[in-house]
Amino acid sequence: MSWFTKALNSSIGKKFVMALTGICLILFLIIHMVNNLTLFAGPELFNTVVKNLDGIKPLIRVIEVILASIFILHIFNGVKLWLENKKARPEPYAVNGSSKNSTLLSRTMIWSGSVVFIFLVIHLRTMWISFNFGEAHHSDHKYYEFVAKSFSDPVYSVFYIVAMIILGFHLNHGFQSAFQTFGWNNTKYFPIVEKVGFFYAWIMALLFAAIPVYFLFFYGGNV
Ligand code: HEM
Repeated sequence: MSWFTKALNSSIGKKFVMALTGICLILFLIIHMVNNLTLFAGPELFNTVVKNLDGIKPLIRVIEVILASIFILHIFNGVKLWLENKKARPEPYAVNGSSKNSTLLSRTMIWSGSVVFIFLVIHLRTMWISFNFGEAHHSDHKYYEFVAKSFSDPVYSVFYIVAMIILGFHLNHGFQSAFQTFGWNNTKYFPIVEKVGFFYAWIMALLFAAIPVYFLFFYGGNV
């Protein structure tokens, strides 16, 4: 094993990979959110944006492969770290020893992460597959109409809303945990990190959840 793989496989190395991949996913969610917000402007803008993205498909495919690798690294490392910490002692994230690390949120990261993972599988199965190969793809750029139809199903919408609340908890702890790993856990910066993390997490959760809420209760168009 080279020194590099050894370093990445150490507890601190794994936490570093978790933090780095976590920050990448935090940034991805902001881009994804901005894209999704165009849904509130109506079919014309959303369908045009997706159609334009379709025009640069090779680039999108490269980004998707990078994104998938980041997701896989994050999940794989998270599970490994959890199993190791469970074996060593009952509390996870033992690396930097702060008492704040053993809050309910930190202990339940594996479970909130698992729900987000299940959400992601269902989300990609419905939205991504359909946008790229299925119903929405073959519908003459009627992507917006496909999203509206999907969220007219109360079971699907409620599943999204619940998953977004759990995503909020995951992001709230994940954000501060990542910055803590990068050494921002001093008394000067950590309160700021906590506040920014809290606002980021709950603004994301709220805006993502607002989409199914909008289509389920306020959308007046045909589906
Ligand atoms: C109401 C909330 C959401 C809506 C309406 C939504 C919508 C979509 C749509 C329409 C696509 C297909 C885009 C395309 O291929 O052109 C997509 C892809 C994707 N979504 Fe979401 N999404 C939501 C929340 C989320 C969340 C919370 C996550 C992460 C936890 C996520 C992760 C992804 C990923 C990884 C992809 C594939 C990469 C991509 O094509 O951008 N989405 N989403």
